[in-house]
Amino acid sequence: MVTLLENPLRMGLQQERTAEPLVITIFGASGDLTQRKLVPSIYRLKQERRLPPELTIVGFARRDWSHDYFREHMRKGIEEFGGGLGGKEFWNEFAKGLYYCSGNMDQPESYEKLKAFLAELDGERGTRGNRVFYLSVSPQFFKPGLRNLGAAGMISDPVKHRVVIEKPFGKDLGSAKSLNRVVQQVCHEEQVYRIDHYLGKETVQNILVFRFANAIFEPLWNRQFVDHVQITVAETVGVEDRAGYYETSGALRDMVQNHLLQLFAITAMEAPNSLDADSIRNEKVKILQATRLADTHNLDRSAIRGQYSEGWMKGKPVPGYRQEANVNPESTTPTFVAMKLEVDNWRWNGVPFYLRTGKRLPKKVTEIAIQFKEVPLLIFQSAAQQTSPNVLTMRIQPNEGISLRFEAKMPGANLRTRSVDMDFSYGSSFGMATADAYNRLLLDCMLGDQTLFTRADEVEEAWRVVTPALSAWDAPADPSTVPQYEAGTWQPTEAEFFINRDGRRWRRL
Ligand code: BG6
Repeated sequence: MVTLLENPLRMGLQQERTAEPLVITIFGASGDLTQRKLVPSIYRLKQERRLPPELTIVGFARRDWSHDYFREHMRKGIEEFGGGLGGKEFWNEFAKGLYYCSGNMDQPESYEKLKAFLAELDGERGTRGNRVFYLSVSPQFFKPGLRNLGAAGMISDPVKHRVVIEKPFGKDLGSAKSLNRVVQQVCHEEQVYRIDHYLGKETVQNILVFRFANAIFEPLWNRQFVDHVQITVAETVGVEDRAGYYETSGALRDMVQNHLLQLFAITAMEAPNSLDADSIRNEKVKILQATRLADTHNLDRSAIRGQYSEGWMKGKPVPGYRQEANVNPESTTPTFVAMKLEVDNWRWNGVPFYLRTGKRLPKKVTEIAIQFKEVPLLIFQSAAQQTSPNVLTMRIQPNEGISLRFEAKMPGANLRTRSVDMDFSYGSSFGMATADAYNRLLLDCMLGDQTLFTRADEVEEAWRVVTPALSAWDAPADPSTVPQYEAGTWQPTEAEFFINRDGRRWRRL
């Protein structure tokens, strides 16, 4: 009999594993992500003894840095943004495996140089030709990067060579398809790791465990019991210094097409046959295929955009989006999106999924709330109390956990009811903070586990779902038609009306 442990197909979300010796080359290594997230995460994995001693990192970028300069830059990153060096000796050992190679992603010669350097490192560090190429660059470099890696024969081995592609994967359905075609020309889907860092979050993976390792919730997880679902990803930050990117992206591309639709897909999908990457991804594709904007004839009934205007955050005045540095004062880019989705399948037919996300909202909070139906007949009328339907909330961040809201009798001679919560919190149950998403994703990629990465067809389906809104909002518009909300408030009034019209309310968070 094959046990779970022995069956490599079922290794997906499971037990402790360590990676093979390999070189991870980070394209765009002089950028923020490398210093803030990628190298600190690899360092942490090394501290946790999840990586082999041979593991080697090569930073690749245009700047003319030395190996030592790169090491110093990374050391600062680990100290400032990671968990600290945790001992000089440990750092010295790690630093020996850090190298830098300057080059231009558009120039084939740079790849020949890199290829020769990696071969040299194989000899020196025993990395056996195993390669991960991490494209942490702006999206216009994805295609030339992939083509040049392909032309140089650097991703020809489907087992030893892997490519990680950061978001955004395309800017609409057409460009995502075109990028997927380039990917397919130069390598196999099994070699490709499209990042959506939400999938690396512990609490997102827990949705699968919660749904499919417990017998009591799944029978309720359908149109018979669920009234609607609300998925919220609220941020307090504004556009920060990313206007150049954000102006062409906006909340729909930046958050909804990827992070929110991933949360949606995991919440709504059917049970996979097993935990291997393709079984899970097949189910996500299936649910996305069945999903559409609620009203296909009237966009205003399916999606609302908004933009923050000046307001107050934590007692300080903050500028509106159009006043931010490098933002067009007449910009129509949405910083807030609310959307209503319908799913055309047996489980969910008629159950709306409301999604909302925005910047400069009052609180940073990500949650999925399953709002159950009212009881069929309320026998407690005499208590003159308004009971509330049950709500199951999965708190993705912060204060990670799950709670179930239900009605209880208030103590006393009178029959009065009140909503109370049954609560699970990661902090108190496990006594440890959840790890950064990049730790998990980097490790999985090094292990060759694609479960938490998005597949070509999945990304395309997600673009298809948002296409009607994209097309409408990309069209030139009078700036005064974009609903505004004051920074530090929850949403434009139009978004209130959007859900109130259905006899429902946004959750107060
Ligand atoms: C990124 C977006 O993908 O996710 C950012 O580009 C956003 O605009 C960020 O701030 C949010 O991630 P998290 O993990 O902080 O919720």
